[in-house]
Amino acid sequence: MPFVEKLIINGGRRLTGDVQVAGGKNTSLPILSAALLCDEPVCVDNIPDIEDVHTLLELLRGLGALAQVSGHSVMIDPTRLHTTQPSSDLCKKMRGSYYLLGALLGKAGQGSIPYPGGCDLGARPIDQHLKGFRALGVEIDDRFGWVDAKAASLNGSEIFFDLVTVGGTINVMLAAARAKGSTVIYNAAKEPHVVDTANFLNSMGARVRGAGTDVIRIRGVDRLHASTYTVIPDQIETGTLMIAAAATQGDVAIHGCIPAHMESLTAKLLEIGVRVDEADDVIRIRSAGGHRAVNIKTLAYPGFPTDLQSPMSALLTTAVGTSIITETIFDKRFRHLHEMVRMGARARISDWTSVIEGMPHLTGAPVTASDLRAGAALVIAGLMAGGNTEISNPQHIDRGYEKLETRLRSLGADIQRVAADS
Ligand code: EPZ
Repeated sequence: MPFVEKLIINGGRRLTGDVQVAGGKNTSLPILSAALLCDEPVCVDNIPDIEDVHTLLELLRGLGALAQVSGHSVMIDPTRLHTTQPSSDLCKKMRGSYYLLGALLGKAGQGSIPYPGGCDLGARPIDQHLKGFRALGVEIDDRFGWVDAKAASLNGSEIFFDLVTVGGTINVMLAAARAKGSTVIYNAAKEPHVVDTANFLNSMGARVRGAGTDVIRIRGVDRLHASTYTVIPDQIETGTLMIAAAATQGDVAIHGCIPAHMESLTAKLLEIGVRVDEADDVIRIRSAGGHRAVNIKTLAYPGFPTDLQSPMSALLTTAVGTSIITETIFDKRFRHLHEMVRMGARARISDWTSVIEGMPHLTGAPVTASDLRAGAALVIAGLMAGGNTEISNPQHIDRGYEKLETRLRSLGADIQRVAADS
């Protein structure tokens, strides 16, 4: 039986001090998958020590790749793959396993994966990924929860996505990197992890241009060579720490981040009444409380990220006035608010919109993390609340944040991980 744990937070303490941001989760997953495309070993630095990375490394090893970890560096030798069908059980543990399909198609012209798992945020189809692969000449058998994909020859093509999809953009980019001829992706996602993956591909000799805009052009190449690459810092972890500092009326300097990636959050924090100072790769957050309610609408980059909607709603539960949060990306992303209501938050919650009436304070209560960012949001709510908050299912948090509670403790938080029956 798996070891079951919970987090216990004794809230009401200000966070103060300095903290370092880890490498990006949603950057590391496509980049480690993209390493499969290479004809030589590659080294990737600044890989976070998180569960989703551990799962992906197991998946890569299962395909026959060598994956050696040394601290935050990972060496991948993809030269001796013996299968194009990754472990079904492991794929179902994480959403990012879908990147293996794009990489296997680029490398071997075929791949077979189950529908990916990961956070349950409502319907999360992959039809746009498959549409992109089909445009490259891939034959796809998509039945009973499995995708079998095979291409006699992978040929460049033009793809217009029906909606902006991060996973779809990156996955097609991976396959197209080694297709014959040119591929153009229209209505591409512009997230920092799309740009970072393109930069990694280019560091191995790929020809990807325009990442960061909504038109990406890829000229396929015959081979990719060895590379050493450093992934960018985690945009969402940076934002989570910024919000946690503000929510506890703290004074925290977040080091090793990219302030330009945080502009939509920074703008909202300033609107709320939080002080934000930036210098090179540091963001300092200072708050004396008295936060004002704001409206949030989640959008693709450079809009407000859906992944920060949950942490931000924790902060807004005690802002003065009424905040309206409109979620436009995922239809089941307000579960954390139901849990915060147990802590005294006042919120009217529906699928796409929630209205939060700010209360003077939250009170600790037993709550359950339903997904990764909901878990992070409940940690922030627990840090804000008076008394003890017990968070069940903290393993969701471990999928995407490296040693979150250790780092929060170093900022003065009283947060412990214990066995669930203690
Ligand atoms: C990625 O998910 C991230 N996951 C998510 O992070 C993040 O919330 C999301 O992008 C948006 O930024 C990883 O990188 C592993 P999408 P993804 O394709 O790729 C619809 C976290 O907490 N859609 O941009 O699944 C989809 O349903 C996680 O770190 C289709 O309809 O997101 C959604 O409404 C959670 N068909 C919208 O597009 C498709 O083929 C955007 O999804 C693909 C997507």
